[in-house]
Amino acid sequence: MAKIGDIDVGEFPLLLAPMEDVSDPPFRALCKEQGADVVYTEFISSEGLIRDAAKSVMKLDIYEKERPVGIQIFGANLESMLESVEIVEKSGPDIIDINFGCPVKKVVSKGAGAGILKDIDLMVSLTEAMVKHTKLPVTVKTRLGWDHDSIKIVEVAERLQDVGCKAISIHGRTRAQMYKGEADWKPIAEVKNNPRMHIPVFGNGDVDSPEKAAKMRDEFGLDGAMIGRASIGYPWFFREVKHYFETGKHLAPPTMGERLDAARRHLQMAIDWKGDRLGVFETRRHYTNYFKGIPHFKEHRMKMVTSDEAVDVFKAFDEAEKEFGDFQFS
Ligand SMILES: Cc1cc2nc3c(=O)[nH]c(=O)nc-3n(C[C@H](O)[C@H](O)[C@H](O)COP(=O)(O)O)c2cc1C
Repeated sequence: MAKIGDIDVGEFPLLLAPMEDVSDPPFRALCKEQGADVVYTEFISSEGLIRDAAKSVMKLDIYEKERPVGIQIFGANLESMLESVEIVEKSGPDIIDINFGCPVKKVVSKGAGAGILKDIDLMVSLTEAMVKHTKLPVTVKTRLGWDHDSIKIVEVAERLQDVGCKAISIHGRTRAQMYKGEADWKPIAEVKNNPRMHIPVFGNGDVDSPEKAAKMRDEFGLDGAMIGRASIGYPWFFREVKHYFETGKHLAPPTMGERLDAARRHLQMAIDWKGDRLGVFETRRHYTNYFKGIPHFKEHRMKMVTSDEAVDVFKAFDEAEKEFGDFQFS
């Protein structure tokens, strides 16, 4: 049974990865319904939070039904990170996660995200200060290292644990790799096999089938799988993995009815949360996957992703239902 601090997250939990512009409250709620055991917000800038930048603050919203939920923050400045911990606490998350893995230039160039992998002492001291500053469990999400020649993840993870980090999620790529190549889970298994490690070690990177999740559990011996891209527009991925774990068989894909229901609820939750315009706009990216595999669906998809008014998107769902309501997915 894995535990993050005092939070019981079950046997081999499935975690929804933090994903910018994806892991928002509506999407997290859908993933939770479909079996995600822990969900994370997208990364939130500590500098944005302390400036009270509206966009950053809005990202702190959480729904009761998605718990346990972790709020992820990033930054490299100790004071800003500590101040933002206090702001984050007011939203009542279950976990505070530190992003030490974001590879994008504008984050890394400020020494934040994966940038901190060049200064492991700072990574450890920042984590320690945050742990001391909050009663909430602090977790870390990071990559294997800055580049291939500087992978020290076994030592890094142990040091993070020693300063009070309560779980670590490791993306099996270096910063230099960005998203290229295949994620390497071997170094993550080495972290787990370190006899001194007792906090959960979650694997991340390229889990896109139930078989891969099973491999991460059975062959690599990790404590849970963090899932990103495979869930975008496909929150059912979580239940499919769980079904496979329980039965060794593949669950039938979601029906058209389930997909339409998810799309409608997703859009409605998004509108309720951030208003018509943003709600319509930011939900678009999910539709392609919701309805993937239906031949000659382009006309409907185009309406869903180009309509600016919510009422027109809902109409597009109704029209798709009329024409494809009985479609059998394989
Ligand atoms: C659209 C997108 C946005 C992301 N945003 C974040 C983020 O805000 N914080 C973070 O730690 N990682 C972020 N990531 C990285 C993912 O959390 C994850 O580590 C990566 O996608 C590998 O996992 P996967 O192969 O299951 O997708 C993002 C990835 C994607 C595709």
